[in-house]
Amino acid sequence: MNKPPVPGRIVELARRIATQSEAFERRLSEHNLQCPSFTSGSYDIPPNLADTQHIILEAADELTALVQGPRSMLATFATEHNKATSLHAIIRFSLAHHVPLQGSISFTSLSTLTSLSTRTLTQLLRHAMTYRIFHEPTRGLVAHTLASKLLLTDQNFVNFIRVALDELLPSAANMVAAMQKWPESQHPHEAGFQLANGTRDPIFEVLDKDPERAERFALSMRGFLDSEAFSARHLGGAYPWGERRKVVDVGGSSGTVARHLADWFPALRCVVQDLPQTVGSSIAESAPEDRVQFMAHDMFGEQPVVDADVYLIRFVLHDWSDEYAARIIRRVVPMLEKGAELVINDTCLPEYGTKSAYEQRFLRATSLTMRAIQNGRERDLEDWKNLLSRVDERLVVKDLVRPEGSALAVLVVVLQM
Ligand SMILES: C[S@@+](CC[C@H](N)C(=O)[O-])C[C@H]1O[C@@H](n2cnc3c(N)ncnc32)[C@H](O)[C@@H]1O
Repeated sequence: MNKPPVPGRIVELARRIATQSEAFERRLSEHNLQCPSFTSGSYDIPPNLADTQHIILEAADELTALVQGPRSMLATFATEHNKATSLHAIIRFSLAHHVPLQGSISFTSLSTLTSLSTRTLTQLLRHAMTYRIFHEPTRGLVAHTLASKLLLTDQNFVNFIRVALDELLPSAANMVAAMQKWPESQHPHEAGFQLANGTRDPIFEVLDKDPERAERFALSMRGFLDSEAFSARHLGGAYPWGERRKVVDVGGSSGTVARHLADWFPALRCVVQDLPQTVGSSIAESAPEDRVQFMAHDMFGEQPVVDADVYLIRFVLHDWSDEYAARIIRRVVPMLEKGAELVINDTCLPEYGTKSAYEQRFLRATSLTMRAIQNGRERDLEDWKNLLSRVDERLVVKDLVRPEGSALAVLVVVLQM
């Protein structure tokens, strides 16, 4: 008699998905929440279900790749940009706004409300519908799904998607050509963004000349930075700020983080440095006695504040290649020679192989985005150490904290005399 086959990885993953999915549904019903659907109800997942959600998605990701096999997986890969293409058109032509929140509209009527023909709309939307963005309840009629409704109801989220599709997608599509044109360039003006936009100016100079585009970009960044994963709370708890007198926040933008630190640590004074156009209005509005002061300062220039005990560089260095990031850090070294500390609050990629492919993917993709727009990159601990020793052999990471739930790590850097 044949022995039953020993279950392989596919069955193991499927069983994990089944067990976790049962737990997921059970917890939803304990919270009196409906089982998720694409078209009705809401999609409020209680925070304590995030881990279960993660396990299911991670296992489903591996299972899909295993069942597909390498050929099908690569073919999917090579054509996946079409996902972005139909969404791009939906956003650009504001299609979500023309579909009623309740009920439906025909492709023909939708055509009269937009500049697109029925044929084009059908082509675009029926592709998006395969990803559950809109659906066709009856042949020829378009109705919202929960995903397409978001495009109508959450403007911050739409800004984020618009920046991803208007700015990042064309830059990504030109990244490889830029790598060929300017091999191993470290400069922020020799990336995919320049080829996509027919310019030799860095992205932030281009945006500066186009207020509408700049505002959308800033809002989309704000959406990111306001999220829990980027909360200043994580930074507040990961360093002994209460024992410090004065911090300089290099590239501190409009001072959100500095204001939080000043609120939480009453003995701390903060100087926020950024480009003149970023800090101009904050300088005008702040009073001399405020514990948060603003200063226009180019971080590539000599550091004018020499009496702080901490220099904070938060979510800035990943924008820059090693050559430029080294130049920024080099400006802080004279202060470290006097005993100050450098706090880098930025992504620290997990060491390769310590996380699942699924878990690493988002950050590794962000790294490609930084490359495509500025020749920047995300770094793991070894990359950070290499960058620091490129600046000065005496620079060491005294402490590395990865606060729970934070997208950013805290690296405390000192000069070893
Ligand atoms: C991604 S934002 C980070 C903002 C802030 N540190 C935070 O965590 O919210 C990068 C910041 O670097 C600033 N920046 C870019 N080039 C700069 C320069 N040459 N000198 C000073 N700041 C600069 C930008 O204006 C922007 O505010």
